[in-house]
Amino acid sequence: MQQYTIPNTDLSVSRLAYGTWHLGGQWDETPLTDDLKQRAVRLIATAVDTGINLIDLADIYTRGKSDEAVGYALQQDKTLRDKIILQEKCGIVSCAKPEFGMPPRYDFSFEHITKSVETCLQRLATDRVDILALHRPDPLVEYEEVARAFDHLHASGKVRYFGVSNHTAGQIALLQRHVRQPIVLNQVELSLLHHSLISDGILANMDGYRYSNTSGLMDFCRLNQIMIQAWSPTASGRVFGCSEDSTDLEQQLAKQIAAIARTHETTDEAIPLAWLLRHPAGIQPIVGTLNADRIGKSVLADDITLSRVEWYTLLETARGESVP
Ligand SMILES: NC(=O)c1ccc[n+]([C@@H]2O[C@H](COP(=O)([O-])OP(=O)(O)OC[C@H]3O[C@@H](n4cnc5c(N)ncnc54)[C@H](OP(=O)(O)O)[C@@H]3O)[C@@H](O)[C@H]2O)c1
Repeated sequence: MQQYTIPNTDLSVSRLAYGTWHLGGQWDETPLTDDLKQRAVRLIATAVDTGINLIDLADIYTRGKSDEAVGYALQQDKTLRDKIILQEKCGIVSCAKPEFGMPPRYDFSFEHITKSVETCLQRLATDRVDILALHRPDPLVEYEEVARAFDHLHASGKVRYFGVSNHTAGQIALLQRHVRQPIVLNQVELSLLHHSLISDGILANMDGYRYSNTSGLMDFCRLNQIMIQAWSPTASGRVFGCSEDSTDLEQQLAKQIAAIARTHETTDEAIPLAWLLRHPAGIQPIVGTLNADRIGKSVLADDITLSRVEWYTLLETARGESVP
């Protein structure tokens, strides 16, 4: 798979990444089973064999079991750690025991960020994460605390680079003003069924359209050399129109995806990812399937380039109307 360097880092990443939010099984207190450990070994090995080298994690995924599952895979193959880029996210406090009854919340304090990284490193049985991203914006953020945490984690070698997730342009600019390290990426929801980051720009100065609150974020990230990662790049499978409650639009989109896949003699799975890859911003889709075959089918996206007509045809169907 083609690779490129994340700006302001020495990290060479594959065009697609692999996400782990369901890798540890249920989001509950049950322990990680042997079956889940073996599945994680297989899926991570498949991802790496197909050329994916960035694994996306978060301290909360399956209540820490996704970290443990990846940690298990790292223990089984001692050569694996140096082949992959481990990306963690922190800042969401889940309502796990012993906090029953407390509200879900965000926490960007020095203590929370540094403790989260320590916990993740233990679960992963490694000495460093390559990228740490703040998971969701915390309205109570005190930037001096974040700066102190980033300095501490960077100086100790526990985190090499820093990023954010689900942040607006203004939030990133404010954060960057306070922290010494460059913000190298922003991980956002982006797919054919969640496309306003891409399509809002088309509607500049049009009356009667509602802009999303992320208008201009793509341009901001490109101007500031911040890589965009797309989470749920197939809208958790909805673009394939095969769930029981699929809408007409989703089914229409699925038909078009299948037709374009046939033209390119590729898989349906490749097309929604190729749609993101076709954008010149260098978007990195994070593939989340738990099916090894589908990882193989997804990475074929790297081999194809959608034509402008195909790209706009998919956008038109996804929007439910043509561009103005
Ligand atoms: N930063 C954030 O706030 C945030 C939020 C959510 C997720 N994420 C990250 O993004 C990653 C990817 O998210 P995602 O899992 O939603 O991504 P996704 O790749 O869009 O969706 C994966 C889901 O789609 C299903 N799927 C794939 N191909 C299919 C097909 N041909 N037909 C039917 N179903 C199909 C998969 O089912 P199978 O498993 O059965 O193949 C799986 O349930 C996560 O693992 C996490 O790392 C980040």
